[in-house]
Amino acid sequence: MPQPVPPATRTTSKDADPATNTAASVPMFNLTRQYGMIGRDIDAAVLAVLAGTEYIGGTAVTKFESQLGEFCKCQAIAVSSGTDAILAGLMALGIGPGVSVITSPFTFFATAGCIARTGAKPVFVDIDPNTFLIDQHAVEQAMNPAVRCVIPVHLFGQMTPMGELTQWACRHGVSVLEDAAQCIGAHDSDGVVPGELSAAAALSFYPTKNLGAAGDAGAVLTRSDALAARIRQTRQHGEVSRYMHEFVGGNFRLDAIQCVILSIKLANLTKWNQRRIEIADFYNRHLADTDVTTPYRIPLGRHVFHQYVIRTPKRDELKEYLARLRIGSMVYYPVPLHLQECFSNLGYKSGALPNAEAACRDVLALPIFPELTDLELMTVASAIRSFFGKKPLC
Ligand SMILES: Cc1ncc(COP(=O)(O)O)c(C=O)c1O
Repeated sequence: MPQPVPPATRTTSKDADPATNTAASVPMFNLTRQYGMIGRDIDAAVLAVLAGTEYIGGTAVTKFESQLGEFCKCQAIAVSSGTDAILAGLMALGIGPGVSVITSPFTFFATAGCIARTGAKPVFVDIDPNTFLIDQHAVEQAMNPAVRCVIPVHLFGQMTPMGELTQWACRHGVSVLEDAAQCIGAHDSDGVVPGELSAAAALSFYPTKNLGAAGDAGAVLTRSDALAARIRQTRQHGEVSRYMHEFVGGNFRLDAIQCVILSIKLANLTKWNQRRIEIADFYNRHLADTDVTTPYRIPLGRHVFHQYVIRTPKRDELKEYLARLRIGSMVYYPVPLHLQECFSNLGYKSGALPNAEAACRDVLALPIFPELTDLELMTVASAIRSFFGKKPLC
């Protein structure tokens, strides 16, 4: 009899260094440092919500939505997670059984999981091997009359070029919903921001994201008043007035406590994103003469480095080497979505989407978060340099 397997969990605890299970010399992430800097403000804001008892909806939510909308140059609808932002977006766009949605197989599960949850069929297309972003040509090739939506995923903090994709989608009567979970603060090479040219964009505020809540949180961005109204209604069980339901939605509301925390953090986001870019520049400089491939940045775009992801055929050996030095690293993502067991009914075979499958074999994310010290960065870069037989920095 096979033994039941406990479900894997995503943890954000500082003690759970995924590389070593011990206190890391350089952690993959550490939220304690950020809390140390803004904790007093957060504690005061949270206590004020508790005392005020306006826990659901109300001024904290509308204030955060208006601040986020201003930052993102769109209307913002706060929702319960990035996953629910994608789901509510798809529902509001009328995606459901009998239609297909094109997306990337090289992404977090939620992107395709939400498509399947609406009853629609995910259609996976290959990625550009340099950027890890959905390949426009592959999208065009996958077009068929059942396709009603495309979800480009702005992976690791870099935006998919939106101009060509949205023009193509418009010509074919296809909606574009951006999975912008990892890219708040980014723009593409034409200066386009998430939600600007598409129907809507989904953000995640998972605690380790560039803007992270103290739990699950997300938002949908849109410039369409009609779609914004529909998403608000979807967030509240499709209610048109109290206890009157025009359609079936869900409870996708975001708690006031998360909103006050996010408002405080949002004020720091530009500075934090800038530090991530500096860290990426540091790694780029010091890894340039090693055998790793450093991240490709699309010229003129703003990549906000939610993750700094290198490529090497020696990925597993390097990961183990770093772990022995108590340096965190992570594989995002080890298995592409078209080869996940739950999508086996879709009939994809190994080798079907070679760029995504190759990425799963050789990508490695290095520690990147704004509070990393210069010494820690030198430790990581030196370790990688030593692994490849180059002179360490320290
Ligand atoms: C690309 C991508 N899409 C969707 C999600 C889902 O967001 P959440 O974890 O907030 O539900 C995430 C977050 O991990 C993500 O990275």
